[in-house]
Amino acid sequence: MGIKIRSAVFPVAGRGTRFLPATKASPKEMLPVVDKPLIQYAVEEAIDAGATRLIFVTGSSKRAIEDHFDIDPELEQALLDGGKDELLRSVRDIVPEGVSCIYIRQGKPLGLGHAVLCARTAVGDEPFFVHLADDLIAGDPPCLTQMAGEYARHGGSVIAVETVPHEDTSSYGIVAVDEATRITEIVEKPAPDEAPSNSAVVGRYLLSAEIFDKLETTGRGAGGEIQLTDAIADLLAESPVYAYSFSGKRFDCGSKLGYLKATIAYGLDHPDTGEALLAHLRDLLED
Ligand code: UTP
Repeated sequence: MGIKIRSAVFPVAGRGTRFLPATKASPKEMLPVVDKPLIQYAVEEAIDAGATRLIFVTGSSKRAIEDHFDIDPELEQALLDGGKDELLRSVRDIVPEGVSCIYIRQGKPLGLGHAVLCARTAVGDEPFFVHLADDLIAGDPPCLTQMAGEYARHGGSVIAVETVPHEDTSSYGIVAVDEATRITEIVEKPAPDEAPSNSAVVGRYLLSAEIFDKLETTGRGAGGEIQLTDAIADLLAESPVYAYSFSGKRFDCGSKLGYLKATIAYGLDHPDTGEALLAHLRDLLED
């Protein structure tokens, strides 16, 4: 089952209300963790998993994302003139050769399911990744690559999950699975006493194109939004969808605390900042 997953969809049209005012004029996916915006980590993960067609579903503040993945000849010339070769490489290599970017506008932020549906024509009739950049996952191999491996084993759709505290189920899509990890039930944001488990969907999906037909008829669900979870619930009866417990550490960068944790973890891991940041944190804690 050696099918290559060519398309990765990045829904980046949400309002990012939990991060206002930072997200007023710029999408939360442009928030930097150390020296790269979240969306660049996302793109790197998708490319590592073999994607060559990057489809961004954007909202009203899309400029920053388009500019980030575009060539900036003036900046490149200035870095070249200044002999700043390493920085030049870091901006030139953002989108490697053979990888293309497609931008689609989601007129109104009607929900994640609606955002994915907006990518239908660009994706076509083949399986594809959906990557939510505000879920930053440090994994080796990266999470989408792990999921492509899982898909190669049994086909179907694959959704990344992780165990969350019971009291947090109302913040996630929650799944129940059979002994072969096939999902038998999926519910968006259930109250803890109604949740079928505490296995929560995180922002990585490998979906069969059949999901688009389901999304066409998905009505508004939790929070009045067209939910991807509800379309997946419709898909379950006809087509296998597997839950995949990835290996790695997830940071919810859509929340202030999760974002700060990611910044510290990636800062400690970064060759330019690791040692000094560790010393600084030790000083802070000793005060
Ligand atoms: P979230 O549920 O995190 O919503 O969306 P949000 O609007 O981004 O953030 P908050 O909750 O208001 O702070 C999950 C993902 O789906 C995208 C978001 O950009 C995010 O990546 N999304 C959501 C869309 O692209 N369009 C939508 O209509 C809704």
